[in-house]
Amino acid sequence: MTSIRRAESSDLDAFLDVLSAATARLHARGIQQWPPRFAPSKVLPDIEAGHAYMVWDGRDAIATTILSPNGDKDFWTPDELTDSAYYVSKISTVSGYDGLGSAVLDWCSRKTAQLGGELLRLDAWRTNFDLQKYYLCQGFRHVRTVELAHRNSGALFERPAHDVTTAGMLKYGLNS
Ligand SMILES: CC(C)(COP(=O)(O)OP(=O)(O)OC[C@H]1O[C@@H](n2cnc3c(N)ncnc32)[C@H](O)[C@@H]1OP(=O)(O)O)[C@@H](O)C(=O)NCCC(=O)NCCS
Repeated sequence: MTSIRRAESSDLDAFLDVLSAATARLHARGIQQWPPRFAPSKVLPDIEAGHAYMVWDGRDAIATTILSPNGDKDFWTPDELTDSAYYVSKISTVSGYDGLGSAVLDWCSRKTAQLGGELLRLDAWRTNFDLQKYYLCQGFRHVRTVELAHRNSGALFERPAHDVTTAGMLKYGLNS
């Protein structure tokens, strides 16, 4: 049985393991997105702030996401940062769970709406157009792409957040 819960500090390694599994899949396809393993400092502050979530299948971690009220100041304008929005990052899945990532995005939308947010936002790898196509298929709008020499990310997306339970969420027990 699968379920989602807030990540705790003791989940850090499992969180990084899922990210690494997703990255290894990408690297095997020649997509040079993300480092083989993220440094703990890239995730731990969000875990400690209560912004990180993981999906579990029994004792196995199978998906990760961070859902934060804090947008990246490199990408979103001061005006946009005052919008009622939540920001997804570090979303990843292990293989073998069809549509799990989409269900996690739906869960993030619902959580955002329940917290009073109106928009779900994210920034994606700038040169990864297959990934950007994926977000368009998930109902996101491309806001713009910000090019910064010190950042690989910067393709900005958003979609309205609704308090609804989708079939994908039910399939993976993400209706809690
Ligand atoms: C993004 C993700 C969570 C989506 O999960 P999902 O909704 O269950 O969907 P799938 O894993 O089946 O992927 C859907 C499609 O997007 C493609 N895709 C997903 N992530 C991709 C990426 N980073 N680069 C290129 N293509 C990607 C998949 O290859 C698949 O393509 P296909 O339909 O032609 O087979 C999952 O694919 C993942 O962990 N990707 C790697 C990590 C990542 O890129 N996270 C997003 C960072 S912004």
